[in-house]
Amino acid sequence: MTSAPTTRTAPPSTPLTDLAWLGSHAAARLPRDVRLAAGGPLVASIEAEISRLRTLAEGAAGALTLRDQATAREEGVAPAVLEELSESGVEAYALRADGDAASIIGDGRGLLHGFYAVVLGLAGPGSGDWRVHAPAQAIRMLDHWDNMTVHPVMGQVERGYAGGSLFFEDGELREDLTRVEHYARLLAAVGINRVAVNNVNVHAHEATLLTTRVDQVARLAEIFRAQGISVLLSVSFASPVLLGGLETSDPLDAEVQRWWRAAADAVYDRIPDFGGFVIKADSEGQPGPFAYGRDHADGANLLARALAPHGGEVFWRAFVYNHHQDWRDRSTDRARAAHDHFAPLDGRFDDNVIVQVKHGPLDFQTREAVSPVIGAMPRTRLAVELQVTQEYTGQQKHLCYLAPWWRENLAFPFGPREGRGQDSRTVAQLVAGSGQRLGGVVAVSNVGADEFWTGHPLAQANLFALGRLAWDPELSSERILRERSEATFGTDPLVSEVLHEMLAESWQLYESYTAPLGVGFMVRPGHHYGPDVDGYEYTPWGTYHFADRDGIGVDRTVATGTGFAGLYPEPWASRYESVATCPDELLLFFHHVPYTHRLHSGKTVIQHIYDSRADGYEQVLSLRPRWEELAGKVPPALHARVTTLLQEQERSAEEWRDQLRTYFFRASGIPDETGRPIY
Ligand code: GCU
Repeated sequence: MTSAPTTRTAPPSTPLTDLAWLGSHAAARLPRDVRLAAGGPLVASIEAEISRLRTLAEGAAGALTLRDQATAREEGVAPAVLEELSESGVEAYALRADGDAASIIGDGRGLLHGFYAVVLGLAGPGSGDWRVHAPAQAIRMLDHWDNMTVHPVMGQVERGYAGGSLFFEDGELREDLTRVEHYARLLAAVGINRVAVNNVNVHAHEATLLTTRVDQVARLAEIFRAQGISVLLSVSFASPVLLGGLETSDPLDAEVQRWWRAAADAVYDRIPDFGGFVIKADSEGQPGPFAYGRDHADGANLLARALAPHGGEVFWRAFVYNHHQDWRDRSTDRARAAHDHFAPLDGRFDDNVIVQVKHGPLDFQTREAVSPVIGAMPRTRLAVELQVTQEYTGQQKHLCYLAPWWRENLAFPFGPREGRGQDSRTVAQLVAGSGQRLGGVVAVSNVGADEFWTGHPLAQANLFALGRLAWDPELSSERILRERSEATFGTDPLVSEVLHEMLAESWQLYESYTAPLGVGFMVRPGHHYGPDVDGYEYTPWGTYHFADRDGIGVDRTVATGTGFAGLYPEPWASRYESVATCPDELLLFFHHVPYTHRLHSGKTVIQHIYDSRADGYEQVLSLRPRWEELAGKVPPALHARVTTLLQEQERSAEEWRDQLRTYFFRASGIPDETGRPIY
């Protein structure tokens, strides 16, 4: 079964547009007295934002001064502050907040970030001293999986749960791009600096964005440029054949190289600050260098060399695996694939290639281990890829605030590596890189033409959190939740409390009734919504649980399994290898165990399977009464939409509970010791 194609939704021009985080509550935070002493193109955007916010609310008492560095110097700001600021990169800003007077210094994007930080209340309490703020990750990018036409299987936005595309309609760019302008402002306000506008599965029509339809990309680039965001394109590796009429796309062929250089030159003629290419090659049917006996460094460097003269970058995805597996062959392990293909290529990629690695070795599951690729490529620029769109995490019908999950991934410490002493670096530090070799965070957008932007209005919190964590991976997920809730809904304590209670642990709740203990993919094949324990078990896409009458889980140990656990540096390799030390939440990801195996929690695996589903469902039932308390406190249309979706979450959680509990009772024959119903 496949997902229903998403239908086109007309972009609404209702005031709901303002409800993301640049509406009246943000407007109310902007001081009434603003002095803007700066030059450059982004200053016009700040001025426009100020006028727009002024129409929404009166503004706060106090004053805000915005200056560029030259003006600050002339006006006598301490040289030490300016020195620290210029050493912190072009996106940094200095902020001094004292009572109700705030002052920002920055140039271009830095000033813009500082301005939005004040409006959204992101900079923390002022101390009266200058503080320099700079993003931890140089790359903070959103990938749109938008098609230009409605794809018969994947709809207009692949894995999109928020209506049609914001950008495209009927195979072309939308005429009215007002909402794209709003979207660019929303993204800039949370620090996003790059957007890739089309699906990584590049179909024939979309491939032409690179050539005959490049003017459409140029129009988007103009809109995003006004917010300091650069635009990238997903391209097909087969473009020389598809678009250029060549007979080959072999990366070592001189004519292919010339074709890519000419194609890149033509794009830069139209878009001088074009960001570059995103590419999915040799993956799930997309063409790639393997067809010519070349590897992925050959492929990536081909594109990199075409872009290099213009300063462009290639985001080359490491999501490469065999999707024609035979379930009878127990030695093939999809989790190994990206590491097997990419780790040996470390050091071979050109400087303007960023290898884009999904955070986990499988595919954006509700819980999986961290991808070992991230710890295995010290000589490569990396970006970790997260999924804001909730493909496997409830499809924006279930509440699932993903910041705690992303934070956990970003904070994962790879152990000391040989020759690096005790240096233990987190995923966030490894992808951030250093010197000229900077990487960052990329994520698949959850936004569409839906009037609430994200289908589920509360799923906006994930988009906000993505930007914030890419800026600073150490921010707590609770703090981000509060920032977003106040910017959007104001400071009513009941609203903040209810939103916090509903969202803060909603990922853990979703995990509990769907996929506990690190087991993945028990979803309906194709569209990936709802339970189907064996849905993928015998398909060519991979095998994920091996449940039988005695036990469950995938043996990924070195001793008896696929060897995947051995791809980690110590202490992780040993910790994952042993059932005794493997964390409960990843147990079934690394081990096949009997149902009677006792977890560290003291419960048996089977009882955990029973309890987590039943308890999770009970907790889901507590959400709607809490949301009811906000009737009249949030806009009625938004309240109604969330209520409807909470009903669907209840229905779906019940289905998960009943199917999973029944399946495992039938498989194991072991009764639920609590005696709760099983069918
Ligand atoms: C998942 C998703 C696909 C997507 C792919 C990717 O497999 O289901 O729709 O194309 O990821 O990341 O490329």
